Amino acid sequence: MMASRLIELNVHGDDRGKLIAIEGGGNGDSSIPFDIKRVYYIYDTLPDTVRGMHAHRSLQQLLVCVSGDCVVMCDDGLIRTEYSLNCPGKALYISGLVWREMRKFSKGTVLMVLASDYYNEADYIRDYSTFIKAVKHDTRLG
Ligand code: TYD
Repeated sequence: MMASRLIELNVHGDDRGKLIAIEGGGNGDSSIPFDIKRVYYIYDTLPDTVRGMHAHRSLQQLLVCVSGDCVVMCDDGLIRTEYSLNCPGKALYISGLVWREMRKFSKGTVLMVLASDYYNEADYIRDYSTFIKAVKHDTRLG
C-alpha cells in the first residue's frame, strides 16, 4: 500500500458556489480512512518557507489546500514524490513512515490538515537519518 496518495474529494457545486464535506471513518461523503481527532491549519507562510521536515511513526493525515497552493514532497525512504496541492478538491493522504516537506506556498495559502490523533511529539521523527533507520527496521520486520 502506498504511503502517500491523492484523494479526489466530492465537490457539491451549484449556482451558489461550492461545498466539500470530509467525513472520517470510511463512510459517507469523501470519506477518509481514519477518524479525525485533530485539525490544524498553516497560513501566513513567508515566501521560501519550508515546513514539515519530519516523519510520523503512526499518525495518519489528510492535507488540503483550502485556499492557494503549495507543493508537498513525500519521501518513503526510497522514492520521493512531489504533489501539487492546488485546489480545495484535491487531498493528500499520508500514512506510515513518510518524510514530508511543504514548500512553494503562494501568498494567502491556507493548508488544512486533518489528523488521526492528538498532537504527540513522541510520534515525530525530526532527524532524517533516524527516519532512514526506522524505514530499514520496518522493511526488515515487514
Ligand atoms: P511544527 O511541527 O513545526 O509544524 P510543521 O511541521 O507544520 O512545520 O509545529 C509548529 C508549532 O506548533 C510547534 O511548536 C508545535 C505546535 N503544534 C501544536 O501545538 N499542535 C499541533 O497539532 C501541531 C501540528 C503543532
